[in-house]
Parts: sequence; C-alpha cells; structure tokens
Amino acid sequence: MFAIANSIGLFGMNAFSVTVEAEIEKGRPSFDISGLPDAAVKEARDRVFSALLSVGHPIPANRVLMNLAPANVRKSGTTFDLAMFVALMQALGTLPPRLPDRVFIGELGLNGTLHGIRGVLSMVMMARSLGFREIYVPQENVREASVIDGIEVFGVETAQQLLDHLLELYPMQPAPVWSPTPDEMLDSVLDFSDIRGQEKARTGVELAAAGGHNILLIGSPGAGKSMLANRIPTILPAMTREEMLETSNVYSVAGELSYDRPLITQRPFRAPHHTASAAGLIGGGSIPAPGEVSLAHNGVLFLDELAEFDRSTLDMLRQPLEKREVTISRVAGTAVFPCNIMLVAAMNPCPCGYYGAGLKKCTCTEKQVRAYLNKVSGPMLDRFDLHVDVDPVPIEELSAKEKSESSAAIRERIEKAREIQNQRFAGTSIHCNSMIPDNLLDEYCVMDVASENFMKQLHRRYKLTARAFSRIRRVSRTVADLNGHEIIDRNDVIQASYFRGFYSKYLQDQ
Ligand SMILES: Nc1ncnc2c1ncn2[C@@H]1O[C@H](COP(=O)(O)OP(=O)(O)OP(=O)(O)O)[C@@H](O)[C@H]1O
Ligand SMILES: [Mg+2]
Ligand SMILES: [Zn+2]
Repeated sequence: MFAIANSIGLFGMNAFSVTVEAEIEKGRPSFDISGLPDAAVKEARDRVFSALLSVGHPIPANRVLMNLAPANVRKSGTTFDLAMFVALMQALGTLPPRLPDRVFIGELGLNGTLHGIRGVLSMVMMARSLGFREIYVPQENVREASVIDGIEVFGVETAQQLLDHLLELYPMQPAPVWSPTPDEMLDSVLDFSDIRGQEKARTGVELAAAGGHNILLIGSPGAGKSMLANRIPTILPAMTREEMLETSNVYSVAGELSYDRPLITQRPFRAPHHTASAAGLIGGGSIPAPGEVSLAHNGVLFLDELAEFDRSTLDMLRQPLEKREVTISRVAGTAVFPCNIMLVAAMNPCPCGYYGAGLKKCTCTEKQVRAYLNKVSGPMLDRFDLHVDVDPVPIEELSAKEKSESSAAIRERIEKAREIQNQRFAGTSIHCNSMIPDNLLDEYCVMDVASENFMKQLHRRYKLTARAFSRIRRVSRTVADLNGHEIIDRNDVIQASYFRGFYSKYLQDQ
C-alpha cells in the first residue's frame, strides 16, 4: 500500500516541508531510502525497525521503499525517524494511509522511545505556516514547541504511545500553550548599582546601550571592565516577543533550549574565551551550526582580553558584524544565521596591564605597549563606535556605603532613547543609531551650526579620517536622543567625542 506521512526538515535556520512516502513491494526483504538522505537518515532503517518491534509488529518480509520528497533537497539528521515509522505503519495497513493535517518530527531510540532533536522551534513555526493542525514532537522538546500557538502540539514519549493515540485507543492531550511569567523574563542578579564610581565608563556604556553601539573598554586588571560589561544586558530594553522568538530559534537549532528554558526571554550575554575556534565563534560544521556571535543575537557578545584572540579569527567577525548575519556555504546549501548584536570588548593596555593606570608601575617597554595594542587590527578597531578608558576606582570610593544608580533607572532613559530611534527608523531596516549608513548620516544626524563648527575644529586638530568622523556623528545622534534634542547641539558632540581614541591614553586613533 502506498502511504504518506508529513514531516519537517531543517537546514541551518530554515525549516522545510518533507513528505515521507512509503511503499511495500514484493521482493527480498530490504529497506531503501531515496531523496538525498545523508548517513544519519540512512541509518533510520535500524531505528524504525526497532520501533516496529517495540510495538509488537514483525519486521516486514518484503521490500520497504521510502522516499523523502522533495527529492532534490538534501536531508540530514534524525528528524524524519518518527514520520518514517508512521508511514511504515500506514503502508503495513495498521494506520490509515493518509493522516492529513498532522506532522511528525523526532528521533527514535532502539527501543521505540523518542529522543529530543534540534531546531524544533523553527520546525513548529513552519508547520503552522504550512497549515498543519497537529504536530507530534519528542516529549523532551514539547515545551519549546508549545511556545507557538495556533497549532496543537503533542509530546510523544514512545512509538507505542503514538500508535495508541493515532488508533484512538488512548488519546493524548495536546500540550497547553506555554508563555513565560513576568518573573521568568527578568531575573538578573547583576545590577549597575553594584558598581562604585566609574562615572565616565558608566556614561560610555549607557551611550553604547542607548544607540546599540559597539564599545571597547581598555584598562588595567581589576579596574572593573568585566563588571561593567556583564551588566549591559540589564540596561538594554526588554526583549519584544518577536526578538525572543528570533533568539530562541538560534538556541533551538544549537540544541540549547531545554524543558527548564524553553524560550530565551532575556537578552543573551555571550562571553566566549579567547581560545575559541573560528567555528565556535562564527559558526560552522558539516551541518552548519550557529556560533557564539549568533547565540548573542539581539544581545551582547563580550570579547574579554580582545588582544589575546587570534587575529585572523577576529577579522572573520568583521563581515558578520557589518551584515548582521553569518553566511555558511556547504555542498548541501547555504545557511544564514542572524547576529544582530552589540559587541563589547575589553582589553588591557599592555602585556603587564598597568600602562597608564597610575596605580602600579608598568614594566613594559614602549615598543611592547605598541605591539600589544597593534594585536587588534585597525579595521577591527573601526568596528567600535566608542572607546572607553576604564581607570580603577580609588579604595575610598570602593568602600563607600551609598549605592550607585540602578540598572532599572538607566534602562528607563535607554528605553526612551530607543523609542525615539524606533520612530525615526520606522519602515527602514535600521534599528538603532549605530546602524545608520554613511550615506544617510546627513539625513539623520542633523547638527546645528555650533556643533558643525566644533566638528571642523576636531578635524583640524586631530586630522580625523572620514570613518572617525562618521562614528562621532552617530554617537552624537545617540547623545542627542538621550538628551531629547532633535537637532544635535555642540554639547552633544563634545560628549560623544570624549569616547574616541584621541582622548584616550591608549589608543591614538585618527
Ligand atoms: N567600580 C567598582 N565598584 C565595585 N567593585 C569593583 C569596582 N571595580 C572593581 N571592583 C571589584 O574588582 C573585581 C574585579 O573587577 P573586574 O573583574 O571587572 O576587573 P577587570 O577590569 O575585568 O580586570 P581584568 O583585566 O583582570 O579582567 C570585581 O569583581 C569587583 O569585586
Ligand atoms: Mg576582566
Ligand atoms: Zn605594561
């Protein structure tokens, strides 16, 4: 009998519809799969037969043919196991030959139990948009799947359980739609009120967060760079549901969602070690998987000890940062992972770490200091709109009793500034000031005469390159937004220009 069961495949972030066709023909016992299956798909034979035995059915004594349509798209992984099992039960006459409106995804274990798979979130969204009414997923993935409404989600533990349900012997109940409680959405233990002093660095970080600018923190060991960086997610605006789904999709494909964390509800903060490989950072693998830069999507990627990262690995980050997506090409196709991130990096100014700190004497030679800063390439440094010198806070200030301003208070200002940006960029692909392209600077960053004159002075005094110029204009736009100025004034520009290399003890940029 010819039977059809619906499934969903995944390549990169893209889910696609797959139809499993099964037929049993007379001939020597065999099990053939066509439709460009990879090795894992081909091995489904053993898993499907075990599931068959687990429901008390003998292995067919005839030829079993399976075709995964569309036949010209490569299929990988173990996702199709469950649909193949269903199709086989249909072809054998146990189940009706058509089960419309239902779609099956999941990996079978050798005793007919189901194992969790990656990318369920994308697959459920695709199933819904294809108009299916019911989706059957491994129990392990049921919470992640039930984030999506508009389709009934069933968590399956064993092949037997599914069979009993489809035969209407023991019907299962669909999982209730899951949505996070407000508590689950905000539970960071970190807060800006923990940081004493550091007025200038706090302002720099606030500016960066307000305009989505990349920021580089430079300072001696213990100055508080890591402390500032890992509190940045606490001042960014709360995630929209759209953003939660986008980011969760990346985690789903990476296999990083779980029963306890079925949805990413807080902006991610990813801090890969400087020994991270290019594939770990950017993404890769024979079946493309997202890297840290995509796991930070809609959040913060923190590169601590920037100068210790492999220079060529860092340079590979440049394009994704610009395009806000990572493209990985493979024979099977091209995978695209999003990476709309705020890049935060920290580094010491020299090998010993104390150059310019005034606390301890730097023991490096001038040449060593220069060589250290040069470890980060110029084009990479160009990616940072703000450079902030982080000086250690004096002991007396550290032991001060009063708390500093809280993350919630800072976030309020940032949300206001972001709201202005949302209105400004409505209907464009720009989200925040850091994304204003050079050719639109004149349109979006209108300055009054005094600030234009100040820019000219800066230019004469420091021989600024066009790039440095553009960065100051973007950051000035953000300062003006925080100050509620529609037209950028001189003070806005002065404040923005504090965070450029020519004011830095360390970086003499142009
Ligand atoms: N401004 C501050 N307010 C409160 N605590 C601080 C401050 N600065 C530093 N500290 C304390 O010093 C510790 C070290 O700070 P942190 O790890 O952020 O330094 P760092 O600049 O990242 O140093 P390194 O270069 O060694 O990585 C913090 O855990 C914190 O306890
Ligand atoms: Mg640190
Ligand atoms: Zn030194």
